[in-house]
Amino acid sequence: MTALGRPEGTVRPRAALHTDAPSIDLSGAWRFRLSPTADAGDFWAADFDDSAWDTLPVPSSWPMHGYGRPAYTNITYPFPLDPPHVPTENPTGDHRRVVDVPAGWAGERVLLRFEGVDSLGRIWVNGAEVGFTQGSRLTHEFDVTAHLRPGESNVVAVRVHQWSAGSYLEDQDMWWLPGIFRGVTLEVRPAGGIDDVFVHAAFDGGRGTLRVDAPAGARLSVPGLGLRDAAVNTDHLLDGVAPWTPETPTLYDATVSTDAETVSLRIGFRTVAVVDGILTANGRRIFFRGVNRHEFHPDLGRVVPLEVVRAELALMKAHHVNAIRTSHYPPHAALLDLCDELGFWVIVENDYETHGFEQNGWRNNPTDDPRWTDALVDRMRRTVERDKNHPCVVMWSLGNEAGVGRNLASMATVAREVDPDRPLHYEGDRSCAHTDVHSRMYATPDEVAEIGAAAGGLPFVLCEYAHAMGNGPGLLTTYRELFERYPRCQGGFVWEWLDHGIRRGNQFAYGGDFGEPVHDGNFVIDGLVFPDRTPSPGLAEVGAVFAPVRLVADGDTLTVRNGYDHRDLTGVTLEWTLAVDGAPVATGTEPAPPLAPGESAALSLPNGAVAPPGAGEAWLTVTALAGGLRVGAGQLRLREAAPRPRRSGRRFAGDTLGPAVFRAGELVALGGLALRGPRLDLWRAPIDNDIFGRDPVAERWRAAGLHRLTHRVVSVASGEGLTVTSRVAPAGSDRAFEATYTWTADDDAVTLALHVEPTGDWDVPLPRAGVALAIPGRCGRVEWFGGGPGEAYVDSDTAALVGRYESTVDALQTPYVRPQENGNRTKVRRAVLTDPAGAGLELLGHPTFELTARRWSTAELTAARHTDDLVPGRDIHLHLDAGHHGLGTAACGPPPAPEAWLKAEPFDLVITFRAL
Ligand code: GAL
Repeated sequence: MTALGRPEGTVRPRAALHTDAPSIDLSGAWRFRLSPTADAGDFWAADFDDSAWDTLPVPSSWPMHGYGRPAYTNITYPFPLDPPHVPTENPTGDHRRVVDVPAGWAGERVLLRFEGVDSLGRIWVNGAEVGFTQGSRLTHEFDVTAHLRPGESNVVAVRVHQWSAGSYLEDQDMWWLPGIFRGVTLEVRPAGGIDDVFVHAAFDGGRGTLRVDAPAGARLSVPGLGLRDAAVNTDHLLDGVAPWTPETPTLYDATVSTDAETVSLRIGFRTVAVVDGILTANGRRIFFRGVNRHEFHPDLGRVVPLEVVRAELALMKAHHVNAIRTSHYPPHAALLDLCDELGFWVIVENDYETHGFEQNGWRNNPTDDPRWTDALVDRMRRTVERDKNHPCVVMWSLGNEAGVGRNLASMATVAREVDPDRPLHYEGDRSCAHTDVHSRMYATPDEVAEIGAAAGGLPFVLCEYAHAMGNGPGLLTTYRELFERYPRCQGGFVWEWLDHGIRRGNQFAYGGDFGEPVHDGNFVIDGLVFPDRTPSPGLAEVGAVFAPVRLVADGDTLTVRNGYDHRDLTGVTLEWTLAVDGAPVATGTEPAPPLAPGESAALSLPNGAVAPPGAGEAWLTVTALAGGLRVGAGQLRLREAAPRPRRSGRRFAGDTLGPAVFRAGELVALGGLALRGPRLDLWRAPIDNDIFGRDPVAERWRAAGLHRLTHRVVSVASGEGLTVTSRVAPAGSDRAFEATYTWTADDDAVTLALHVEPTGDWDVPLPRAGVALAIPGRCGRVEWFGGGPGEAYVDSDTAALVGRYESTVDALQTPYVRPQENGNRTKVRRAVLTDPAGAGLELLGHPTFELTARRWSTAELTAARHTDDLVPGRDIHLHLDAGHHGLGTAACGPPPAPEAWLKAEPFDLVITFRAL
């Protein structure tokens, strides 16, 4: 039977090792030529004249360097489904590189190693073909000893085809980016050296069991555990071992040596096992607070510099992410070294996805076709072999969205053959016939609860949830509650870490921006961090929801709970601040009580931490710190605000009421400040969660005409104040909102009490419920007392703490790659917008309102496709809302929870306006 899609001529896969054997790094400038088809002509002879060619860095994704263009599809293959054939138009990159090989390498066995070539690389050394890679994110090594000329210049030539049979196995939701995008090295394999090592380091109650499989006669040393020149291939029982966990990533330096070679290892002791239906590490339940991580860089494509990786892992740590799924292929090998060191659980996924076959009824899916078995087994074997020595690797995954079929069994078998100790994951087969955990993506909270409550069964994980596309995700606390309630619901992995935008000037491009005939638009922009890895508000929410030290108001006390899985709270400091109306009046620091994992206690703080006599809203804020990192925060309201008096007493005369001037029932000036509005406004610039998914609410909003409401002033009645009634309705419909604006004033300020009644059958939720007004653009400084510092919405407000904040209108914006509603500050009691001279507008809530301020209208925001489409206008547009529809995560997953729906019901909004 033909074996489709496999590499040829490679040596047996083995572990990635740090060795003292000589090697030559072939990164750097290579000669490069791009051709539109696969048959570009001979170029591999050592004496071929490539002087007219360009140079290209290796590693690289060539479309990022001006050759061809990136293309994005999610599910659909960008070529006809005609396996194993690919189009004649097959961009092909020929690469050449001269390398001086030391004379001292004569007589040595030498391998040429490729860490990542997308999608197929044919390799020649000094004109002799040695084989080809196939499996873009997999390591391939070739024995080039016979073709290498030590002491001379040698030519390595690589022809990379963008499309190959292997492309059918690599339908991951990401940019199609051909190239030699990871390292290339020449490596000496010394005679009597150590080609491969397999570390087995188990932990059981203070005791470690270490066995290192290595060539017979090799010696093992672990100085930190007193092992010197010990035997390999045998068990060593070791006392006094500290376990490896993501919270306590203890690693022991080790070496395995022969006379010819020394390999350096970092060993972490941990035992991962499914016990009574629960996935455990060292006997304790694992709780994944995870993210899915792709390898992508906005300027370099699939090449991610190591310092960028380090910084992004630090950012994950700072937001209490403890697990990574390497969606949907093995990562750069160095990632796993860092995950060992910093402490993350990692699900390493095979480089395998065939999602586009689903659109054709899964006909001819490679997962169930014996012609592809070899290729799939080869992929799985390479995945496990390379990364088997990492304590961070908790499970292997057979791949993603590849349907079902016989080859799942073949892949599972080889994974278990190579590594019997690690559980297997695969989401695409609901029968779980080949896996050790039950995995789902985007299951609703109800489904998760049902799975959690069912008797028996496998450990359950959400390999993807909380789709972080655009503004969102909501619902994180809902899922956390389920993970905490049901022991077998062991957490999940947010989809996904990073927006895969491609930098273009000041903004980021997404699908369709490169003229792709078939593409999936901005579905590739669905991360917790922006393409340049700056955090989005979603990451702040993740950080607050995943935070291990939980400080929760419970009646009139604050309860502290240790949410770590493996460590107590020794060394955690609690910093408290008492503030009245947002102004700090006392602070202090206390050690956290030394609670064990899962324990909680009521917090007792010193006497200073009680509200001082007097009026004013008093809050106690407690922040938990460990090792310089914020590991939790919570608040307790010690005294409620006294109700704010509404301004009244002035009569309406002429056009004025107190300091306010009205025209045709609308406020046009306040003190010296020109204003327009406030007017009822129910529209928001739909967020991705409104637009995408099964039943997009934005379509219903548009059908209902909520983006094109018209206003008809029905009555204006003045006397003791001013009362304006207005009927607000879309063209063509007899449904409406009746708005009653009741204005009262004293000499200093004016109070608006708005009451809104929907009439007719509004069977849709509302985007927002509030008023819009415009003020002069010079009032760009903002201060507020309310939730902050970041953007927050009703189902994504864990990170927002009540306090006093200041910012600018410009800085309140969140630059979502596809512009959409953003920037709301929640539960605002008081806000001030001022110009540089301090003149402006004060807003006082009765008791609170939601605040959005921007330099463009909601209509402009709705129309924008990229951030550069947003051009500041003359005015600042203010939205003062009684509420917003929740964010949910419906772009892929459930809509907001019922309590976060903004129902079309009567509402009130009361705000005092004062000119400054
Ligand atoms: C999942 C898939 C991911 C991504 C996500 C949507 O179905 O596994 O790769 O496509 O949906 O963003």
